[in-house]
Order: sequence, then C-alpha cells, then structure tokens
Amino acid sequence: MGRYAHITGWGKYLPQRILTNTELAKSVDTTDEWIRERTGIGERRIASAKETTAMMAIHAAREAIEVADLDPQKIDLIIVATATPEYTFPATACLVQDALGASRAGAFDLSAGCSGFGYALATAASWIRSGMHNTVLVIGSETLSQFLDWEDRATCVLFGDGAGAVLLQGKDQPGGVLATVLGSDGSGGELLIIPGGGSKHPASAETIATKLHVIKMNGREVYRFATRVIAHAAREVTKQAGWTIEKVDLLIPHQANVRILDSAAKALKLSPEKIFANLEHYGNTSAASIPIALCEAIDADRVKPGDRVVMVAFGAGLTWAACAVEWSAPKHRAAPVQVALSRVRYGFFGLRSLLARLLRRIDALFSWLIDRIEGKRGGE
Ligand code: ACO
Repeated sequence: MGRYAHITGWGKYLPQRILTNTELAKSVDTTDEWIRERTGIGERRIASAKETTAMMAIHAAREAIEVADLDPQKIDLIIVATATPEYTFPATACLVQDALGASRAGAFDLSAGCSGFGYALATAASWIRSGMHNTVLVIGSETLSQFLDWEDRATCVLFGDGAGAVLLQGKDQPGGVLATVLGSDGSGGELLIIPGGGSKHPASAETIATKLHVIKMNGREVYRFATRVIAHAAREVTKQAGWTIEKVDLLIPHQANVRILDSAAKALKLSPEKIFANLEHYGNTSAASIPIALCEAIDADRVKPGDRVVMVAFGAGLTWAACAVEWSAPKHRAAPVQVALSRVRYGFFGLRSLLARLLRRIDALFSWLIDRIEGKRGGE
C-alpha cells in the first residue's frame, strides 16, 4: 500500500509592526495610490530586533504542532525554506529543532527564493511517500526588511516579514500532497539577487558602501517571467494530480503582485473567487507567503476536507514550484489547555538546551584539564 503525505497542522507568525503605504511614502518617493494600483499592497509587517527568522519560524511551527496535536519528538525532519536565514550557518532549521525539543529530527535550510516553501513541501512529501520519514515539519520564514534598500522605491514597497509552517504526516489513506512540479532557469539569476555576503562578494566596507547586501530586482523581467510560469506550473501540476483546472477548488499563489494573480486567473480561466489573495496586508513575504496564505484560507473556510488545492510560486533563481494537495484535515484550533501545556513543555526544552550547552562547556574544561595533566606527566 502506498504512503500519502497529509498536511495535519498549520501555523503562522506575523510581526506586530504594521508599515502602511502612507507611512512609507513619508520616507521614499512613492504614494499609496501607486503602490495599491501597481501591486495591490496596502501594508506590510516589519520584524522587530527580537522577531528574527528563527524566532518567527519557531512560533509558526509551534502553532502547527499544536493544531496537529503532536509530540515534537515524533518529528523526523525539519526544513526551513528561507532566503533570509538567521546566519550563513548553522541552519535556521537547527535553531528551530532545538527550540521545539525535536530531538529525533534532522534539520536543514532550503534556498529557492520565493519558491522555497513549494520546494520544501515537495521534498517533504517525497520523503514521506518513499517511506523514509513519516513526520516532516516545513516552514517558510523571512525577515526581508533586513535586506531592503529603503531608498529604492522599486523594491522596498513590495516586501514584508513573516513565517508560516505546515506539518506533514504519512498515512495510508489517499490524499494530501498528490503531485509536485519544480523548475529553475539560472540564466535569470541576476534578475533578482542579493549580490553581497556570499563567497563571491564577501562582506567588506566596499560591499556595504556599494549596497551589495540588499535586494536588486529587474521588476519588469521578473513580472514577465511570473505571469508566464504561474499558469504553466499550475496546469502541469493539476495534470499530474489527474485533475483539470476547472476541478481546482482553490489556487494559493505566491503573493507578489495582484496583477500577476489576475493575469494567472485569466490565463487559467479561473474565476477570481478561486484565487486566494492576502498580499494587501502583508506584501511579498517570499518563502513565507504561501503558508501564511494557507493558514488564512483555512481560517476563512476557503479550504475544507476534500478540496483540491493548488499552491504555486515563483522567485529568485529563477525558480518555480507547484503542489497539488487534496485537503484532508478538518479546521482545528488547539484548546487553550493544550497550548498552555505545550508552552510549559517548550520551557522545559529551553532548560534542557541550556543544560546541554553547560555540559558541553564542562566537558571541554575536563578534556582541557586532562590534556594538561597528561602533558605534564609526559614531560616528567
Ligand atoms: N512608487 C512610484 N513610482 C514607482 C515606484 C513606486 N514605489 N516603483 C517604480 N516606480 C516608477 C518607476 O520608476 C517607473 O518610472 P519611469 O517610467 O519614470 O522610469 C514607473 O514607476 C514604472 O516602472 P515599472 O517598473 O515599469 O513599473 P511596473 O508597473 O512594472 O511595476 C513592479 C513595478 C511592481 C515591481 C512590477 O514590475 C512587479 O511586480 N514585478 C514583479 C516583482 C516580483 O514579483 N518580485 C518578487 C519575486 S519573488 C522572490 O523570489 C523574492
């Protein structure tokens, strides 16, 4: 009997701070009208110093685990899709693993720009379907506000911060992630890029002075690519799932620009009600945009058991990803008692992590002492 990868938990985290277009227009040469008309964005969330990529990922993941009512120790693998990781290394996923007390889990980050969540979902589903893992946590988390040129009106108005997570579990019951399509075209790499901070242009006074650490984008070209690829990937994935586009109940596209969504709806001949959009409130949150939108679609009763859901993304790389999901989980929110209990458990995991660090130091101290004693003996 085949294994199926079902989404059994979901959660999101959005920073408190809301930055409206009108506020933004006070510091950069733009207007609320231009941004709304050309992108559909009205406001975005901006992370505080404490709301880092890992912190937001942890909060979204905890919510997903609570919805699935799962013991974090049952998680086999954690994948964090992000273009704005906490550090170059260690992987943000490892910080999440530690905070969740997911002591049995492997953890790694995945970089595929705004398509990252789709890539991570496809990876997780393949592992589950192959029987290699049973429970995989997939997170998209971004603090893009840290990588924006706040003087460049063509990019700073577009992006926002946030995180979303889903928990996938293997079951014999058919459904869940039925098909995935992944694609890339590296010839368009320079169209959307943060040139500095990697091994080609490591951080230096010069890279900072020439603003190499912020997003550079050829908006028109990315726009052209996006309108082409969304319809193509959505068609391909529905075909692989054995559906037709008309049978899709909800399309959750990467939230970049409302005009891109309208153009996809037109190309696919899908009525606008079948396309979920929340970018008015959050802008483009890159790898976090689809899981955040999914959570909001569930809350709004737009995703119900039995529904055929297609998620489709495009982004830096250039990359694209599409996933066809036959939804199986009923809408569910963790009871307050369960939330309180899991908070206590996470507090305990925090202590355990502190203890592990302390023990590592004590161990290092003892090794050092033994080396010195043995060195002295050898010298006698
Ligand atoms: N306010 C006012 N005017 C602006 C602004 C702004 N915020 N931004 C650009 N303009 C001006 C330009 O300077 C230009 O002026 P000019 O004609 O005098 O030179 C004019 O508006 C038109 O510029 P265009 O670039 O043609 O504007 P367009 O209608 O194409 O919209 C946009 C630009 C919104 C960036 C659009 O191209 C777009 O959405 N592209 C896709 C971007 C995207 O989705 N990126 C994310 C990819 S996912 C990832 O992996 C991160």
